[in-house]
Amino acid sequence: MNDEQRLMDEADRRASGYLQGIGGRRPYPGPEALAGLAAFDEPLPQQGHDGLGTLALLDQAGSPATVASNGPRYFGFVIGAALPAAAAADRLLLAWDQAASTFDSSPVSATVERVAAAWLLEILDLPRGSGVGFGTSATAGTVACLATARRALLARAGWDLDRDGLAGAPAIKVVLSATAHIAVRKAVRVLGFGSAQVIEAPVDAFGRVDPQRLPALDDRTLLCLQAGEVNTGEFDPFSDIIPHAKRAGAWVHVDGAFGLWARASSLHPLTAGVDAADSWTTDGHKWLNTPYDGAVAVCRDADALAQALNSDAAYAQSSRDAQKNLTLEFSRRPRGIAIWAALRTLGRDGVAAMVEQHCAYASALAQTLRGAGFEVLNRVVLNQVLVRCADDAQTVAVRQAVIDSGAAWFGASLWQGRPAFRISVSSWRTGPADMAQLAAALTQALRACAAEQ
Ligand SMILES: Cc1ncc(COP(=O)(O)O)c(C=O)c1O
Repeated sequence: MNDEQRLMDEADRRASGYLQGIGGRRPYPGPEALAGLAAFDEPLPQQGHDGLGTLALLDQAGSPATVASNGPRYFGFVIGAALPAAAAADRLLLAWDQAASTFDSSPVSATVERVAAAWLLEILDLPRGSGVGFGTSATAGTVACLATARRALLARAGWDLDRDGLAGAPAIKVVLSATAHIAVRKAVRVLGFGSAQVIEAPVDAFGRVDPQRLPALDDRTLLCLQAGEVNTGEFDPFSDIIPHAKRAGAWVHVDGAFGLWARASSLHPLTAGVDAADSWTTDGHKWLNTPYDGAVAVCRDADALAQALNSDAAYAQSSRDAQKNLTLEFSRRPRGIAIWAALRTLGRDGVAAMVEQHCAYASALAQTLRGAGFEVLNRVVLNQVLVRCADDAQTVAVRQAVIDSGAAWFGASLWQGRPAFRISVSSWRTGPADMAQLAAALTQALRACAAEQ
């Protein structure tokens, strides 16, 4: 066995050990583990250390300080765990080390990602033939889609963005849901739309864009809707809004970072009409439970996406569906392969079962929490449970007490200007015992906080 094989075997051994213990790991590292991170504060070595020792340091000081987001009781940020088959595929990809820009640079990557793209359109029931780019994140996918949208809207107005740039270009109006995710706001900002140019579409009590109060739309409008509001899991009423927006000539983009996966399950009706949009983003690394970082930008007009993101050069000519022309990256790893592996091993039934199970867990948890004296602030249409206690101080204290107990982790939020916390059920590892443990920890923390007050 040579040094490389020894090192890779050791990495596999340590990785397997980590995964075997994932169920018992604290969802958030304790103070001792965090203090142990000081081991990394060493000077840049003049002469390199050996690989086995470097791996040992990473595991011994690093593993205890990981957030167990790959575990069963991590309920933060709609972060899914990593399905074994998808993680295993990624492990093989590391050995392949492909630069998956074009068919020529990696025939196998281009082939598998082509299949993954077609399956994705099928399972999400989006227009077949759309362009699909496998990028790093929903944020990057939104930048890709909105850049495509702006270029297309300007072209319709007779403006050649590639040649003439933005200076002097006709103004594009951006309309965002008042509850748009910060990732969408970031994408808009990065593309050069200032907050003064952005118009907020008012939302109803559930956080959905209200069709009755929709700002005026025209053929130079970029309208961003959402499938899965991050706090409530709600869906904008696509069937009421998109046909109207299309008649006005607007481009409609949908942020479906996690919620678009409802479409692959019996919750499909929640997304009714979303397929009429022009572009969509979703993540593999959230609800599909693929490893980081893998996300998808989908554009109905495949040519528009391929032209907006084109990076063909004299030395790198490629086909319309080359991933380097559908994503922000040129050199890239084939992120679609983990998505392919997840879809191939789960199948349609497996994806549906996972999504439906998480929603059922969320709904049952909401009922238990209401019974225990919590206020559940949303309708729990999906996998998000938005919770508040009797007062703001108690809301903050209860969340902290559960995290300190090591039973679970979930994020803090603000809902209608007041503190709340949000429990997202999205890990394939989460089972009934984990849900029971979460409910028990919350109930106990609420009792303890109430007794103290
Ligand atoms: C609704 C929504 N949109 C966008 C994003 C951003 O996704 P990503 O982290 O993949 O960029 C998230 C989550 O982080 C989200 O929940």
